[in-house]
Amino acid sequence: MFSSRIIRASIVPEHIPDGPDRIENARRVLAHDGAVVVGGLHAESDAIGFATELLGDRLVRVGRQFRADMTTSRREAGLVDAQPVDSRGRKRSFGSPEERMTAHNDGFAFGDHAPDHLFLWCSRPAMPSGGDSFLIDAAALVDLLRDEPRVPGLADFCWNTAIDHSEPNFPLPDPAPIARRTPSGRVQVRFHPYLASCPGAPPGHETMIGVWRAAVDHVRDNGPMFRAEAGEMLCIDNFRVLHGRDGYTDPDRAMSSIWAWTTDALAVPREALDIVAPDLAALHR
Ligand SMILES: [Fe+2]
Repeated sequence: MFSSRIIRASIVPEHIPDGPDRIENARRVLAHDGAVVVGGLHAESDAIGFATELLGDRLVRVGRQFRADMTTSRREAGLVDAQPVDSRGRKRSFGSPEERMTAHNDGFAFGDHAPDHLFLWCSRPAMPSGGDSFLIDAAALVDLLRDEPRVPGLADFCWNTAIDHSEPNFPLPDPAPIARRTPSGRVQVRFHPYLASCPGAPPGHETMIGVWRAAVDHVRDNGPMFRAEAGEMLCIDNFRVLHGRDGYTDPDRAMSSIWAWTTDALAVPREALDIVAPDLAALHR
């Protein structure tokens, strides 16, 4: 359905070496490319410290959201598996560590309260291999789709048609297009496993969402992946760039997911968020 040119939306992030200009260079590359890698961060506190310095005066809230390792993943996946199917027949799943992840923006369950920056700090990669990362510049992908002859209208659909971004059983209040420009001028382009048309929408909406899903999966499965080593951290524009990782089997692999909200965020939560059982009502109290 797609030509190989859409794989250009893949990002293999530039690695910024240590040095006096490291923060400035990382900031510049992050703004331009949507993602960047830094190394030499040997403790989670160093990683959060770097994120804090990188975002500077714009930072409102930053903190470790969760530790992604096999034990935590299996426990949380079990809790999510016990949650019921929703009224539209949709079911949440966190998947298993052995599976390649669906590309996503982090915090998608929280709608406008999602963090605008994401930091993935690797304390230990999978040995001897596995768990490689992938990044997709979703804003670039929508642009590339404009010239794909077999999916006419998809880019316009992404920009102009409000859809339901809710997770099953955790409804968000406001439908919104897949792609939008935020009040601060950032571009936000969203993808996760549960995108759905609004109730009562024409069937063509669900078809278009399916084609968007196929485009994202195509880039994920045909674009490059890369390995994050111990002490490295991926710094990601979580509005513009989708991320995920390949499957792994090493029980000692561990990454920390650090979420950050800047003055560009649409809304900033007052408390840490629970991804297993999102309390959306609390965000609006
Ligand atoms: Fe994630």
